[in-house]
Amino acid sequence: MTEYVTADETDVQPRDGTIKLHGPAGFEGMRKAGRLAAEILDALAPLVVPGARTDMIDDVVRQMTLDAGAIPATLGYRGYAHSCCISSNHVVCHGIPSDKTLKDGDIVNIDVTPLLDGWHGDSSRMYLVGDVPLKAKRLVDVTYECLMIGIEQAKPGARLGDIGAAIQAHAEKNRYGVVREFCGHGLGRLFHDAPEVVHAARAGTGPELRPGMFFTIEPMINLGKPGVKILEDGWTAVTRDRSLSAQFEHSIGITETGCEIFTTSPRGLDKPPYA
Ligand code: MF3
Ligand code: CO
Ligand code: CO
Repeated sequence: MTEYVTADETDVQPRDGTIKLHGPAGFEGMRKAGRLAAEILDALAPLVVPGARTDMIDDVVRQMTLDAGAIPATLGYRGYAHSCCISSNHVVCHGIPSDKTLKDGDIVNIDVTPLLDGWHGDSSRMYLVGDVPLKAKRLVDVTYECLMIGIEQAKPGARLGDIGAAIQAHAEKNRYGVVREFCGHGLGRLFHDAPEVVHAARAGTGPELRPGMFFTIEPMINLGKPGVKILEDGWTAVTRDRSLSAQFEHSIGITETGCEIFTTSPRGLDKPPYA
């Protein structure tokens, strides 16, 4: 049922539901775009402090992206007018940068997607603002574990559902809720492509993973119930029960033996340091 096609590495093929299988040129393109995403997220670490305005952080993301010869893929995407998403506390994802300031104790996700030489590097991380309560740090920690446990399942011959099953099991073991409304996604020359990578699933279901597939894994994990709602701005997703939410995202490619993470931090800052 799932259709796999050899990717054309030189042109944008429309989203048609097929899964594109990439070769060395695609891996090289994603390595560069992914590395830039990670470098941008690294550079933001010292800026995510109490009193920082999120639109100022967005300015830095835009400038760094442009300086590197890339374009923020979110800028103008479906009417979105910013270079990143900044989602604090009970905001699940797609938080819009604004003149609001960060405050001591916030947990914040920043999600960037530079489009470099035609390839999308999509990644997000959590940042801790000042002194964060242990309960929130634990959520951030477990959410990072969820991402990495999902990535461990990503190898040829496995099924896409194995990823969601592993993430869901780990989150629910900790009595957290896995958000269902937003998924990971195929990417490459397109920002959002097939397949949909759900973060709660049954093992052994879904398309088989094959070498050359590129996709993100980006679990959103709530301290409370999994439900979300969208605010009137049409973008900001928040937890229905107003509980805290955390998210991490990497872009990966399936290799012959496992997977390659394109968005690893060159400085080891993928996850915030804990006191
Ligand atoms: N970067 C997000 C993702 O992981 C998508 C953001 S789209 C935006 O897929 F328009 F909200 F920025
Ligand atoms: Co994504
Ligand atoms: Co993203």
